[in-house]
Parts: sequence; C-alpha cells; structure tokens
Amino acid sequence: MEIKTAKNTPYPVKVVKGQTYYWCSCGLSNNQPFCDRSHQRTDLSPLEFIASESITVYFCGCKQSANAPLCDGTHKSL
Ligand code: FES
Repeated sequence: MEIKTAKNTPYPVKVVKGQTYYWCSCGLSNNQPFCDRSHQRTDLSPLEFIASESITVYFCGCKQSANAPLCDGTHKSL
C-alpha cells in the first residue's frame, strides 16, 4: 500500500517534555499528524516521538521526510 500524503506542509505542534507522541506514517489517520490506528489496514506503523523539551516542533505532513517524524523540507520539492 502506498503512503498517502496527509498535506503538503508540516503540522506545528507544541509538545510537552517527556511526553510520547505517535506520528502517523501511513497518511490515513483522521487525527493528523498523529496515529488513529488507520494503519492497521496497511503494513505500516506509527513512529514514536518522545519530546526532549517543551517546544513547538513541525511534524511532517507529506510523509516523505527523510527525518521523520519531523519535517525536513522535502515537501517543497513534491
Ligand atoms: S511536510 Fe513532509 S517534509 Fe515537510
């Protein structure tokens, strides 16, 4: 199954230090950028992200980042 682009820009999220987040890697979740278990009909899995500090991070929305779960600018070339 192909990875679905959720959107062509990142999702800014204020994360909390020590909290664990599960980034949707398949693009099917209705709770972007996070997993809602929609991947269960694929062979993909969410990526775990543990916040090392309380800051705003930019989770990849295009699902093509080489630095997933974070945006690395790849969406600009899609
Ligand atoms: S949104 Fe995917 S690399 Fe920026």
